[in-house]
Amino acid sequence: MKFFIDTANLDQIREAQTLGVLDGVTTNPSLMAKEGITGEKNILKHYVDICNIVDGDVSAEVIAVDLKGMIKEGEALANLHPQIVVKIPMIEEGVKALNYFSDAGIKTNCTLVFSVGQALLAAKAGATYVSPFIGRLDDNSTDGLTLIEEIRLVYDNYAFETEILAASVRHTMHIVNCAKLGADVMTGPLSAIKGLLKHPLTDIGLAQFLADHKKGN
Ligand code: E4P
Repeated sequence: MKFFIDTANLDQIREAQTLGVLDGVTTNPSLMAKEGITGEKNILKHYVDICNIVDGDVSAEVIAVDLKGMIKEGEALANLHPQIVVKIPMIEEGVKALNYFSDAGIKTNCTLVFSVGQALLAAKAGATYVSPFIGRLDDNSTDGLTLIEEIRLVYDNYAFETEILAASVRHTMHIVNCAKLGADVMTGPLSAIKGLLKHPLTDIGLAQFLADHKKGN
């Protein structure tokens, strides 16, 4: 399972990178705004800064909602750095854009996916990644993990190559359960990634080992 971090915060990306388990980064317009990154020039520079920290794929989202605009923005993003993956919303024009970029050999991440039908369309349109937002489904009394399970089933039935990128991950058990269900990738906050480290028995056990070592020396 690949681990992506879902942030535009460079310090957090650096910290995740030093752990040695990071495979990529996802961003979105809200995450960029949260870091105070505004204006086209600054936004594009920020994407390059992120690419220079990590080795893997970096999702950068288009703002346009029409095909022509998505193609123009997506091509400009893809030309920024070889690690950029163009993030396209799951709307009608977006499906056309996914097809266009697939034919052009440009990697895409289909975002804002909330149903199996949408995931099926994204795969048929040749998306590199599909991003079901499991946390936002949970927030709306709908089981996000069930969506991952169902997309896995459908993609395996037809050997679709589109990778399931579990998004809107909120906590460690989202990550663990997505891994059990066979999600190819998860993207979540640093807190969820580092949360996987924690177990009280590890801390108690280590304290005991160190104390016993001290007694013997
Ligand atoms: C995915 O690529 C999105 O950036 C993200 O996972 C959305 O998560 P949120 O629901 O925590 O905003």
